[in-house]
This record gives sequence, structure tokens and C-alpha cells, in this order.
Amino acid sequence: MPFDIAAVRAQFPALAIKDNGQRRIYFDNPAGTQVPASVANAMSACLFEANANQGGYFASSIAADKIVESAREAMADLLNAPSGSEIIFGQNMTTITLHLSRSIGQMFEAGDEIILSRMDHDANVWPWVLMARDMGLEVKWLPFSPQTFEFDLDELDNLLTERTRLVCVGGASNLTGTINDVNSICAKARAAGALTFIDGVQSVPHVLTDVQAIGCDFLVCSPYKFFGPHQGVLWGRREVLEKLEPYKVRPAPSELPDCFETGTQSHEGFAGIKAAVGYFEWIGTSMAGAVGGREALRAAMELLFDYEKTLATHLIDGLTAIDGVTVQGISAADAMDRRVPTVSFTHATAVPARVAESLAQQNIFVWSGHNYALEVAKTLGIYESGGAVRVGPVHYNSTEEIDELLAALPQVLSA
Ligand SMILES: Cc1ncc(COP(=O)(O)O)c(C=O)c1O
Repeated sequence: MPFDIAAVRAQFPALAIKDNGQRRIYFDNPAGTQVPASVANAMSACLFEANANQGGYFASSIAADKIVESAREAMADLLNAPSGSEIIFGQNMTTITLHLSRSIGQMFEAGDEIILSRMDHDANVWPWVLMARDMGLEVKWLPFSPQTFEFDLDELDNLLTERTRLVCVGGASNLTGTINDVNSICAKARAAGALTFIDGVQSVPHVLTDVQAIGCDFLVCSPYKFFGPHQGVLWGRREVLEKLEPYKVRPAPSELPDCFETGTQSHEGFAGIKAAVGYFEWIGTSMAGAVGGREALRAAMELLFDYEKTLATHLIDGLTAIDGVTVQGISAADAMDRRVPTVSFTHATAVPARVAESLAQQNIFVWSGHNYALEVAKTLGIYESGGAVRVGPVHYNSTEEIDELLAALPQVLSA
């Protein structure tokens, strides 16, 4: 069954919005995606029908309990986690990581080592630098090549020692779009006796994720990047979570996973997360012939990945044909499997922020700058010059929208 973009677009009310009669083109998706009506409806139903704290004897509280439980199961399906009880919710990835790093740090001793990557968003960098500072740990850096935009995993071998306790790396870069070989990275870290913390914020929206196959100890992601609400989600391996001391207040539950969730949670957010996973399942059943469950999620992610590859190829071909443009990421046509469709570019003379501003005047939404990927921008040598323009299509975007961007760019870049 083919990918039905018209059916997809019909799910997203935001795609039909016009401003002063002008259509919107959303290429700001790596920062946050639009939501299907099913997500907003689930959230509003939760607020209308299940608006209570958890653990009560009355109907609305029981309904809230069910929503939380089913959202954990849905995320366990999406990440192929062994159990929903290993799924921890929070406000966003950054908050979860800062919070958990406090507990993780307690496992280490002064002189221990951690490995961070130069390809990561600062949310998978600075919480660990702060943890290292507080615990007296040594930080080692895994570089990436500004020519290939990939890691050389031999360099990881050189960094790992018997003192390495933790390796933190992203599933995909929010700036270059590179998909990292997290399975190999985790295997190497595991062989050295180190834990692994994977930032899946930019990979989970595009790539079928399987925490058991990856072999990591933690994986975090942000549902608002995959058609859900503003929330963060962490999966942690049970044996490791059980060893951590949760930073919590005394009356809060001591059991997993609640012990890592601080204060009252956004139940409406959880309802939205479940619906976002349900949206992928709908794609898998209605467009890829799957029956349901994890199989439908697999079928959906594969279908979407293939479609997004065509968008990325079209976009990169068009960008590289424009004078003065440099794509800051993998560009070879036969390497599209190694990147998500997030494409950042620089121009010989145009300032990224001015390009984003000019495109906004045509209602084409893109981001510019370093996008919090400080180490990436520094490695690429674009930090001082305003970073890059980031164009981030997802499966609800069309090739026609990319054509509109490409048609607008020559004039925007020469202004
Ligand atoms: C790769 C990556 N990691 C982490 C984050 C931070 O996510 P959150 O906003 O959920 O804290 C982002 C946000 O853009 C990101 O792109």
C-alpha cells in the first residue's frame, strides 16, 4: 500500500491554517511537530473526563490511573521496552536528564570517567558536565568528522578505559541529521563495563527504535517532536533503575517508575502521548497493511522513513544546486539511510538568521543558529558566524513544499 500523504495531511488541522490568506509551510519540525486531531482530542477528553490526581477511589481518579498506565504501555511499544513500568515521564528531555543525572552521578567515584560526544545537543552534554563537576569525574570527548559528519568508532575504542562509567550519545543529530550507530556504540561501552545514555529526541521521530536491540541502559525522547504534546519520556533498564537513588520527596511513591516522576504529572500530556503512538499505529494499519501493535509501529516507521528519504534527497539535491550553499551534513544520494531528513545549510554570504526571517515573510518556517547543538556548531566552524539554516521536513511535508522553499531561496540568499 502506498504512503497516502493526502490522508496524512487531513489528520493535522494546523496544516490547513492560513495567515492573511497565505499557506503555512512547516519546516520547523526538528524543534517541534504539529499534532493530529486525535492527539488534541485525547488531551481534551482527559481534561474533561479524567481531571484528577492519581490513586483515588473515585471515577475521575481511576480514569486518570488508566490513562497513565496506557501511556506507559504505548511508549513501551514504541521503544520496544520490556515493560511499561520502565517508562518514566517528565516535562521534557532536558528536565528528565538533569534530574536523573543527579541520581546517576551517585553511582560514580572521583576519578571515574564519562564519554560525551561533540555531535550532541547540549541537553545530552551539559547535565553530564555538571554531574562530572559535582562528582569529580573526568570528561572525555568523542569527536566527529566535519567532512563525513560521522563518528569514527575507533576513536571511541581509544577513549574507553576501565574507569569509563558512562557513555552519552544521540540517536540522531538535530543539526547535521546524522543517524549514529548506537548499537555499536552501546556494544563497545557495555564491553568496557560502562552504562549508556541515548538521546533519542531526534531519532525516535524518524527511525524504528528498539531499546533492547540497541542495548542501551537509558533512552530519552520528546513526544512533541513526534506529533505529541510537550512532554519528555525516559526508558531505563530495570536493573539499573533499581540501583539508583531517586531524588524525591518523602510521601511520593518509592516504586518504579513513579519514584522518578516529581510532583503532579500532566495526565492530559500522557493521553496525548498515547494518541501520538496510536497515530503511528494508524499509519501502520491503514497504509502498510499491518494488523496492529508493535508490528504496525514497525511498518509505519519503515514506510515513513522511506518517504522521508525522498524528501531529504529532493531537498539536498535542490540546495546543492544553489550557488554558495553548503549542506552541513551527509549529502551523498546513496547515504540517505544514514541521516534523518533534518538538513542544515550555510551560505557563502547570507546570515542564517536573516534567511530564516526572510523565509518567514513567505510563511515558510525554518530555524537558524546552533539550535543548542553547541559542540556541533563549533566542530563545523559555524558557531561564530550564526550557525546554519535548518530545514526539517517530516512525513506530512510534500515535495511541492520543498519546491516552494527551493524556489524562494535564490532571491532570499542574494538579498
Ligand atoms: C537532540 C535533542 N536532544 C534534546 C533536546 C531537548 O529536548 P527537550 O526540549 O524535550 O528538553 C532537543 C531539542 O530540540 C534535541 O533536538
